[in-house]
Amino acid sequence: MATKPFSHGVVNGPDSVTGIVLKAMSRTPDPRLREVMESLVRHLHAFVREVRPTAEEFEGGIDFLVRLGQATGPEKNEVVLLSDLLGISTLVVMLDEARAAGGTDPALLGPFWRAQSPRCEPGESIARDGGGGDPLEVTGRVLDLEGRPIAGVSVDVWQASPVGLYENQDPEQPDRNLRGLFETDREGRFHFRTVRPKGYPVPVDGPCGELLRAQDRHPWRPAHIHFMLSRDGYRTLVTQVFDNEDGSIESDVVFGVTPSLAGRFERRANGSLHLDYDFVMQPGTRRIPRPPLP
Ligand code: BEZ
Ligand code: FE
Repeated sequence: MATKPFSHGVVNGPDSVTGIVLKAMSRTPDPRLREVMESLVRHLHAFVREVRPTAEEFEGGIDFLVRLGQATGPEKNEVVLLSDLLGISTLVVMLDEARAAGGTDPALLGPFWRAQSPRCEPGESIARDGGGGDPLEVTGRVLDLEGRPIAGVSVDVWQASPVGLYENQDPEQPDRNLRGLFETDREGRFHFRTVRPKGYPVPVDGPCGELLRAQDRHPWRPAHIHFMLSRDGYRTLVTQVFDNEDGSIESDVVFGVTPSLAGRFERRANGSLHLDYDFVMQPGTRRIPRPPLP
């Protein structure tokens, strides 16, 4: 005879639903999964009690989620984008970092990082299309919490072009344009050449764009360069350095800017632009994220 299934009881009115669902999940063997799902159900049920969606609104919400998946492809990840627009990505990285005092602020990864950036020599240019743009030289050091240089750090950089598009959004740019992987020298230094990034709107041709318009929010990110710093023995640092002269520095649509990440793109006497920025890594585990794009 088949064993009797675990009995969580039957629903008897709206007040009973949450407890019964929690009971149904109460034998989840993985304790973290159990904790996460219990909390998710409690919060989602509280949200439904507060908002009391109509049937039409509920259908609209489900449809929105389905369309997020359908709009996701090789050029963009609309699911990641929603989490960015809701401030969830920023909140997750800020809480997860549990930063020691003095460590560089993290910032969200965003949907445009790609694995296997081209390996570059110190000083090499990541602007591979020979196109226009204001030449920019980027230098800096990677230090530990005691201020000592860290050699051998992988410095993965990526940025939007002077027209505000990542290479994989723009058929005019060569593959992997404005992406590069550098390594710090014995003094913890890195150095590359590029062109001044431009602020850009996040993609607004999908459901996330609809949401922004419905909320009367602009879609702009202030100009920035992304950095992912990794080395064994250190916590991988994913962050962005912003152009502090950008008009939307205080209204980043995805909430990535912190005061210390606002960099100075200085015009030198010879007319060239220069960004000098030092990063501080904390001890920990090297972990490379799953790329949001192929
Ligand atoms: C980015 O910085 O690449 C980015 C972050 C969030 C949404 C869109 C783009
Ligand atoms: Fe970006």
